[in-house]
Amino acid sequence: MNNSDNIRNFVIIAHIDHGKSTLADRMLEITGTVEKRKMKEQLLDAMGLERERGITIKMAPVRMSHILNSKSYILNLIDTPGHVDFGYEVSRSLAAVEGAVLLVDATKGVQAQTLYNFEQAQAQRLKIIPAVNKIDLPNAMVEETKQEMAELIGCDKSDIFEISGKTGKGVQELLEAIIKIVPPPVPSEKQILRALIFDSQYDSYKGVIAYVRVVDGQIKAGDKIYMFAAKAQADVLETGYFKPELVKSESLNAGEIGYIATGLKDLSKVRVGDTITQFSIFNSQFSIKPLTGYKEPQPVVFASFYPQDADDFEALRDALSKLKLNDSSLFFEPESSETMGRGFRCGFLGMLHMDIVRERLLREYDSEPLATIPSVVYKIKTKRGEEKMIYRPSELPDGGEVAEIMEPFATVEIISNAEYSGAIMKLLENARGIYKNLEYLSPKKILLAYEAPLAEIIVDFYDKLKSITQGYASLSYAIKGFSAANLVKLDILVAGEKVDALATVVPRDQSYQKGKYIVEKLKELLPRQLFMVTLQAAIGSKIIARESIAALKKDVTGYLYGGDRSRKMKLWKKQKRGKERLKREGRVEIPQEVFMNLFKKQ
Ligand code: GTP
Repeated sequence: MNNSDNIRNFVIIAHIDHGKSTLADRMLEITGTVEKRKMKEQLLDAMGLERERGITIKMAPVRMSHILNSKSYILNLIDTPGHVDFGYEVSRSLAAVEGAVLLVDATKGVQAQTLYNFEQAQAQRLKIIPAVNKIDLPNAMVEETKQEMAELIGCDKSDIFEISGKTGKGVQELLEAIIKIVPPPVPSEKQILRALIFDSQYDSYKGVIAYVRVVDGQIKAGDKIYMFAAKAQADVLETGYFKPELVKSESLNAGEIGYIATGLKDLSKVRVGDTITQFSIFNSQFSIKPLTGYKEPQPVVFASFYPQDADDFEALRDALSKLKLNDSSLFFEPESSETMGRGFRCGFLGMLHMDIVRERLLREYDSEPLATIPSVVYKIKTKRGEEKMIYRPSELPDGGEVAEIMEPFATVEIISNAEYSGAIMKLLENARGIYKNLEYLSPKKILLAYEAPLAEIIVDFYDKLKSITQGYASLSYAIKGFSAANLVKLDILVAGEKVDALATVVPRDQSYQKGKYIVEKLKELLPRQLFMVTLQAAIGSKIIARESIAALKKDVTGYLYGGDRSRKMKLWKKQKRGKERLKREGRVEIPQEVFMNLFKKQ
């Protein structure tokens, strides 16, 4: 028998809103992990932002204890997010555990993320425990949902648990099943420390705190540790568990999930996916291999962030670095632009992810950078045969040099009630989608498979899908690769000047329509100036649409009555000069909301 025999590590995975956090609450209550008076709904959604929006953004680990047949067990649960943008959080949690509770809302049945998460858990060879949730609701379709799940997983209907995270019904039985079904962690024979970093955060006293799954060996305060990928050393200040707040412990042992306070102030030394070992072992003759890390997350949406004040460049770097510790899927690197100065090119896993990063920067770091329009990354082949990645549409060279433009394509899976299939297919067609497959999951439910350009999927496709299906359809997508497409760069000129941040890449056959839309919308959104402002959409040097915003009239001669014509003329002249100066020097200032509103809904 090994010491980890009484440990069970598991995650709860589900489609968004199927009730993971609520189920976790009941488990915390039943195991007495959190005192009743401290209990609040969705306790593991600790971030203010999570509670306000009712979504889980971060995975949250917690350690519980439970007694079964007079034996005491340690249960480490990791609550995971459900939205498609946060899939990377889920994949990391899966690597730290042996089992997964796959939860499905009985009023909704199997949905796109259920499928996706199930496949991920299967790929990690986790023991899967299926459960139907929300059975207390009058419109729960328990039998149908069980049937769908049984077909998906290939299990018996009787193996599926029926629970209500709200009332607690069936949760005790589920906990017992977790103990019985999920295997305990099995450390290797060698008792040499290897711990996988699956998350991290920054504390101004304790430095970087690494969240780890100890795979082999033991670690305690005072140990000197070594991080493989970062090639960095640190002295352990403290080890402990999540309750869910940090609680100090003597040591962390093989099979356990907990934290290590490293005291490190250099944030780049603790990387998610890296392996920690003892420095003495690394330095000795022992051959020790790091654990398999994670696939680097692939950002799909890029935007540039610039500090409002150029002096705040370093502060923005610091804020992004700290945020990245806690959100390792955030990508950023410095860049500079002629018009905007020094800033950072940032990569996100989706639009919601970008939105959350902006809000977290503001709330947690009091930083509100200017953001350019989000865009996917394009790949071009030049006529000289070079390949180049284009992170901002404005970087795209003009027509002549480019032999081919390629854009990222995604495989898209949509699960919906069959009655909406026509409307969904039309929506996908408008999004330049390519039909692949249609499968009936049950007589009423379909699974549609398409391929579509990522740029069409990430902006507001999900909102449109929800609205045409009354919220019934669900979506998941994964990047497939780059495909050539007939695209052009659409430039926007405001008062005769190209505005880099307004450039977009559009399908050639939609360029007129998009150009017209943008200048018309800009006319609505831009504040009026003292002079007339022309708005133009152009492809290369060809203007394809134009509008103008009339000047704000200020009657400077108003206070001069009578016939003093020459004085009037003088004033008009002066004003004309002023306007010319304004035109010459002054770029029209474009407020940040204009960028965001312009591309929201087209
Ligand atoms: P994400 O983390 O954002 O993916 O959501 P989640 O899966 O954690 O779902 P959450 O626990 O936040 O629950 C979503 C909604 O469903 C909340 O309004 C809950 O109160 C409700 N809910 C969860 N479980 C049950 C249940 O068993 N019965 C009923 N009636 N409502 C439930």
